[in-house]
Amino acid sequence: MGRYTRGVDAGGILAEVKSLVDSRLDELLPGESVEPTPLHQAMRYACLPGGKRLRPALCLASAEAVGGSRLDALDAACALEMIHTFSLVHDDLPALDDDTLRRGRPSCHVQFGEALAILAGDALFALAFRTLAACSDEAPICAEAVLTAAEASGSAGLVGGEVLDVLSEGKEVGAEGVRMIHERKTAALIAASCKLGGLLGGGSEGQTRALFDFGRTLGLAFQIADDVLNETSTADVLGKAAGSDRSRDKATFPSVLGVQQSQERARQEVEAALAILSSRDLDSEKLKVLANHCVKRAS
Ligand code: IPE
Ligand code: IPE
Ligand code: MG
Ligand code: MG
Repeated sequence: MGRYTRGVDAGGILAEVKSLVDSRLDELLPGESVEPTPLHQAMRYACLPGGKRLRPALCLASAEAVGGSRLDALDAACALEMIHTFSLVHDDLPALDDDTLRRGRPSCHVQFGEALAILAGDALFALAFRTLAACSDEAPICAEAVLTAAEASGSAGLVGGEVLDVLSEGKEVGAEGVRMIHERKTAALIAASCKLGGLLGGGSEGQTRALFDFGRTLGLAFQIADDVLNETSTADVLGKAAGSDRSRDKATFPSVLGVQQSQERARQEVEAALAILSSRDLDSEKLKVLANHCVKRAS
């Protein structure tokens, strides 16, 4: 154990981020007793206690990578987690993936009904942008944060990717087609998470651009790993459905390349992501550890 290993294992980083982010989310989300109470209960149910908090972890580590403090980026990190959670709530709906288990418990629509799940997702999306609009004391930084998140989550990003994902069920789209889906539905928000960390941490334009490129490449690796886990793991371990991509005939990397080649591709994408960091003089042990964790994780 070298002196630099303390506190930089992925489990330690994520646990620390989770405690910071969960207490801030608890403050940002309306209380369960605030009217309309079922809506606020559904929003809190979806967000808390939540999942791995990977996007916030990347955002906070990116802020530190450019010499900023984690607290500078905390509200942006929470907003990113709200956008991510909105996407999971809607992704699980019967009209999309029709999954009844999420983060180890009944999906939001199973617990609260479809109408509330749709509306809780909508309200989380709105609260995310309200949070970003006030995420810094400097108005131009807030505007840039809102723009970045809007581009990542809208029709050219996450929502567009979800559309391609649903429309590609049962179709042969090839590795390039799957890459396009994954870059939108998953990598766009991960790229934005890294960029926003750089922005809120006071990084230069070159640094935030490098963090965006790093996140986009890492995000592809992350979704390939998700595809592999869906094929090879169990619902008990994942806390969400396993084997469901195959049964819905989803466009995934394992369906095109097989599991082994998909694992290899994910590994290559992580190496490429790390090469972007080192080629642009961003030496962050935390980002390296988190990047490797994206493809080594068990859930
Ligand atoms: C799941 O994301 C959806 C994908 C984009 C693959 P995560 O694996 O980060 O989910 P949580 O937040 O830990 O539940
Ligand atoms: C991940 O979708 C991307 C979004 C939710 C936007 P998936 O459908 O592949 O993810 P899981 O496996 O349900 O978490
Ligand atoms: Mg999906
Ligand atoms: Mg899904």
